[in-house]
Amino acid sequence: MALRSAFVGITGASGAPYAVRLIEALVENDVFVEICASEMGEKVLAYEMGGLNTRKLAETYGVKRYAPDDLFAPPASGTSVPDATVIVPASVATIGNIANGTGTNLLHRVADVALKERKRLVILEREMPYSLIHLRNMATITEAGGLVLSAAPGFYNHPKTLDDVIDFVVGKTLDAMGLASHELVERWGHKRRG
Ligand SMILES: Cc1cc2nc3c(=O)[nH]c(=O)nc-3n(C[C@H](O)[C@H](O)[C@H](O)COP(=O)(O)O)c2cc1C
Repeated sequence: MALRSAFVGITGASGAPYAVRLIEALVENDVFVEICASEMGEKVLAYEMGGLNTRKLAETYGVKRYAPDDLFAPPASGTSVPDATVIVPASVATIGNIANGTGTNLLHRVADVALKERKRLVILEREMPYSLIHLRNMATITEAGGLVLSAAPGFYNHPKTLDDVIDFVVGKTLDAMGLASHELVERWGHKRRG
């Protein structure tokens, strides 16, 4: 089934450039996008990207933005859950909340709804090294039907710039969300555009 709508949750893990590139690519591919950053997600986004915030992101890309405490937002309900939910980048704190069903903000709730409604849930985690608790929480989300991805780029495609590295990780994330029409990842055995 084509990917028509996506919720992008941004947490306080390092990796804000992944979130920005992902939103851009989704919009370029005509996906209806809703975004929400946790309190720390907003702070790390600003810290890593020269003061950028989700308000500006929403304006730039024409996407819908919600505050993290807005539990009245449409995607919080199973009646209007998007085709795919992605947490990018995902902190181990948010992963713990999702894995244990102990949600306190909109990101946790939308991820919880995605799992109960059997929709795609993609978690792009960013931490190292892992504690046993992190690993168990990622295993729990996997068992519940979510896909856990690590923000680990491949180098077999010979990246030349940081943008190439970011595109690799974002491309794999889009694949996991069910959007195969993008050209961010060089397909093995296929020549890249340009
Ligand atoms: C600059 C900065 C970078 C951080 N990077 C990570 C990270 O890569 N992974 C992680 O799990 N937590 C990271 N943290 C810690 C989280 O922000 C913290 O655990 C926070 O409570 C997560 O909350 P949230 O999941 O609601 O966004 C970082 C914090 C700061 C200030």
